[in-house]
Amino acid sequence: MERTLAIIKPDAVEQRLIGRIVARIEEAGFTIRAMRLEHLTKKEAEGFYAVHRERPFFGTLTDFMSSGPCVLMALEAPDAIRKWRALMGATDPAKADAGTLRREFGSSIERNATHGSDALETAAFELGYFFRGMEIR
Ligand code: CMP
Repeated sequence: MERTLAIIKPDAVEQRLIGRIVARIEEAGFTIRAMRLEHLTKKEAEGFYAVHRERPFFGTLTDFMSSGPCVLMALEAPDAIRKWRALMGATDPAKADAGTLRREFGSSIERNATHGSDALETAAFELGYFFRGMEIR
C-alpha cells in the first residue's frame, strides 16, 4: 500500500466540485485516510510549494492557493502516487487527456483543480506538512 497527498484546489472548491471529485477518487478505488477543508494562509502555501520558490509563477501560485479553501486528503491505494497523477492528468488542463480531472475541471495551468505528490519522498513531506500521524488512520 502507498499513500499520497491530494488537494482539491480553490478553483474547484469554488465551483462546488468537491463531491464530484471525491466520487471519482472513490470510484477509482482509493481509500480516503484523512480529509479536511482548509483555507491556507499565504505563508502556508509558500511553505508547501517551497521547492518552486525560484520559479516565476511562485507568487501567483501561492496567491491562488491561499485565495479560498482547499480540500486536503491522504489517499491510499497500491501505487497511489502514480495512480492519482493518472486520474488528475497533465499539469496543464489543455494538455491533459480526455476523461482526466484536470481536463474536465481545470481552466489553466495554475487553476488546474487538483494537486498530487509526484514521488515517495514528496508524498512523505506533503502528508506530514498537513496531517499529524494520528489524523491518518
Ligand atoms: P501542482 O501539481 O499543484 O504543482 C505545482 C503547481 O504550479 C502546478 O500544479 C501548477 O498549478 C503550477 N504551475 C506549474 N507550472 C506553471 C506555470 N508554467 N505557470 C503557472 N503555474 C504553473
